[in-house]
Amino acid sequence: MQLKQALTSAIARLTADHVPSPRMNAELLLMFTLNCDRAYLYAHPERELTTDEQNQYDRALAERARGVPAQYITGHQEFWGMDLIVSPAVLIPRPETEHVIETVVELAGLTGDGGPRSPHTGLRLADIGTGSGCIALALAQELPPAEIHATDISTPALEVARANAARYQLESRIQFHQADLLEGFENSSFDFIVSNPPYVGESEEDQVQLEVRKFEPRNAVFAGPTGLEVIARLIPRAHAALRPSGWLVMEISGTISEEVRRLLRDWNDVRIRPDLQSIPRVAQARK
Ligand SMILES: C[S@@+](CC[C@H](N)C(=O)[O-])C[C@H]1O[C@@H](n2cnc3c(N)ncnc32)[C@H](O)[C@@H]1O
Repeated sequence: MQLKQALTSAIARLTADHVPSPRMNAELLLMFTLNCDRAYLYAHPERELTTDEQNQYDRALAERARGVPAQYITGHQEFWGMDLIVSPAVLIPRPETEHVIETVVELAGLTGDGGPRSPHTGLRLADIGTGSGCIALALAQELPPAEIHATDISTPALEVARANAARYQLESRIQFHQADLLEGFENSSFDFIVSNPPYVGESEEDQVQLEVRKFEPRNAVFAGPTGLEVIARLIPRAHAALRPSGWLVMEISGTISEEVRRLLRDWNDVRIRPDLQSIPRVAQARK
């Protein structure tokens, strides 16, 4: 079968199976199968697929048609310009989480009085619930002098995060720990505690995309009945582990933003930043 024909029938198959963005998915899985870029697909429409390639493409399409996210099939997701490894042990990094990185980078450039911070000042950061390691890795790249600790309750997730750190030669910059939130880091004097914690409520489960519910790790998405359970535990622990004037930066959702603001009522300089869809997305607060 020729490449062009394989692509056309894949688009028809994914469309029939109600997969969103069928062309994009068909192209992505063909690029994965042939280990090529999009330009190659359109430059070589008459290239014959080998039987092995056809079988591999069929298997990938069948997985996608039953709802498996393309990133778990290809094993990759782009985040902050990095090509990260992902597996079903970790949440697939989302573009909106890049706002967390932007916030920390901006705040790290300021001293307590709002003036510029010396680039050589050492920072101590903790990323809580690191998953694929996307936040810790992006911050390690953006803030080279920083000492970074990353925790997760899930051992398989930490294995993926460590593999990603090795992929970008950042193993010596980030220390990974299997821990419940900040367990073991009480009274640590961090400058920043950063987290994209689980924040979806089980009561909202029906509104969560089926693909997320079925295939992403449940303890990465759902926090408990209301969605606030992990954040409510994290806030006092972060307060204890930050130095005076240190920052807590968390990804949140619009559903819980007012409750998060209430939980942060004793903190200073509380601000909730919106994402590109104007949904409240990043909460920042100073101890
Ligand atoms: C929403 S995911 C975020 C993953 C990654 N930081 C990202 O932004 O894509 C939340 C992560 O928190 C971890 N987690 C859940 N409960 C935790 C806890 N009590 N302590 C530490 N990590 C936890 C999950 O295993 C998951 O990897």
